[in-house]
Amino acid sequence: MTARLAVLCSGTGRTLLNLAQEIEAQRLPAAIVLVLASRPDAGAIEHARRHGLAVRIVGPATHPDRAERERLWVQALRESRPDWVVLAGWLHLLPIPPELEGRVVNIHPALLPSYGGPGFYGDRVHGAVLADGRLLSGCTVHFATAEYDRGPVILQEAVPVLPGDDVHSLAARVFAAEKRALPEALRLLISGRVRWNAGRIAWG
Ligand code: GRF
Repeated sequence: MTARLAVLCSGTGRTLLNLAQEIEAQRLPAAIVLVLASRPDAGAIEHARRHGLAVRIVGPATHPDRAERERLWVQALRESRPDWVVLAGWLHLLPIPPELEGRVVNIHPALLPSYGGPGFYGDRVHGAVLADGRLLSGCTVHFATAEYDRGPVILQEAVPVLPGDDVHSLAARVFAAEKRALPEALRLLISGRVRWNAGRIAWG
């Protein structure tokens, strides 16, 4: 069974590219039916076009009225009829329509519930982990809810923080883990081995 994915991006699109490559290598039984970009300069747009994926651009720069862009996000999602919505470097709170509850997943570059929430994105996350002297970091794939980075956790992969690490070396190690964890989490969801059950994770 081929799952329909809508992938939402605000940034470089490395996560989108990784998913497209996993699908092309037949390691993920899915098709990307929509790429929704929130910035006209998002690198994700170029990756999407190169892989022949449908792209919509709706964000603060193109649609300054927040209610209007939220309406357009939901409309674009509904039109694409996704099985799963993937927040892949998406920097906004997505209003989740009732029929997509438990179908929206986010990837975060830390071991939630630590180092998540508003303002914790990109290098700020890794800088905080280093400043606190943590010995472990990692990534988390979780169901998205109405609060940033708070939904039930599907999968985490830990990585060591090594002596001499800076934000860039730690970010690279965490992203390498993300490249494994997000496709694995999607495989668990697509196969039905993990599912959302009234706001909690159900296995089997
Ligand atoms: C990743 O660190 C991910 O955890 C976070 O956004 C970053 C990826 O963005 N949500 P991109 O794919 O490079 O645009």
